[in-house]
Amino acid sequence: MKAAIICSLVRPEEKMLIEAFAKRNVPCEVIDDRGIKFDLHALDAWKQYDVIVERCVSQSRARYILRTLKLAGVKTVNTYDVVENCGDKFVTSQLLVQHNVATPRTKLAFTVDSAQQAIEEMGYPCVLKPVVGSWGRMVTRINDRDAAEGFLELRDVLGNYEQHIYYIQEYINKPMRDIRAFVVDGKTIAAIYRTSEHWITNTARGGKATNCPVTPELDALCSAGATAVGGGIVAVDVLEDTVRGFLINEINHTMEFRNSVAPTGVDIPGAIVEYAVKVASA
Ligand SMILES: Nc1ncnc2c1ncn2[C@@H]1O[C@H](COP(=O)(O)OP(=O)(O)O)[C@@H](O)[C@H]1O
Ligand SMILES: [Mg+2]
Repeated sequence: MKAAIICSLVRPEEKMLIEAFAKRNVPCEVIDDRGIKFDLHALDAWKQYDVIVERCVSQSRARYILRTLKLAGVKTVNTYDVVENCGDKFVTSQLLVQHNVATPRTKLAFTVDSAQQAIEEMGYPCVLKPVVGSWGRMVTRINDRDAAEGFLELRDVLGNYEQHIYYIQEYINKPMRDIRAFVVDGKTIAAIYRTSEHWITNTARGGKATNCPVTPELDALCSAGATAVGGGIVAVDVLEDTVRGFLINEINHTMEFRNSVAPTGVDIPGAIVEYAVKVASA
């Protein structure tokens, strides 16, 4: 068996994955996405790999790489479809609603006027997010009409076409934390609380990671969410609503886990590699 990891940088996560492959005596090549030159007429060389783990920082590279590997008939973790479904927050929300998985109320609009109306109908506070993004960047809480008008105008005047897609979500009055759950092959293997003074709790923004017990209820929701986006290995962001309980906020396809192994005591890279080996052998 021969595996590969395609990545942009060897971050702590990629290092842990390389070590996990080595521990299992599975040869694993590291391919830098900056050096890739796909010749659509000669993709057969990629078939030397039984499985490729995608770990690109860039969402657009991940999409093109996985689409090309799918065309070449190479197995990947995650699949192209999972990355398409998780890479765009609106697509994820749509799939969650379609599969009856609990998620906050979400709306989509394309103009400042219709977005303003959608926000008014939603009520304040609400949250605006770019449909593609991570690390909490440009995730904005809108507390009143003045803020909504100002922010919508800024996005309209200064934003690119992607920022003219207005993803509007109800604000969930959660405790000072949210939950990040790691789902591998349909099972929630670990979860952390991300606690922060700020309402945006990403660990990249200073949220502190502590262990969160994986209850049957949390596992049921997260595995249903993972199934809705096509399975594989995903990190599910969960908000705790005082009335409705757990709600899935978003699902991430190339997740960071450097801060989650120590608090949970779960070998997340090991589980990912074991899943990749299973995919390769299938
Ligand atoms: N609707 C919401 N209600 C309350 N908090 C939210 C909501 N949406 C996002 N957040 C907070 O902001 C963080 C970042 O938002 P998220 O949608 O996960 O974007 P990103 O892809 O940048 O991580 C979440 O982890 C959560 O703490
Ligand atoms: Mg998130």
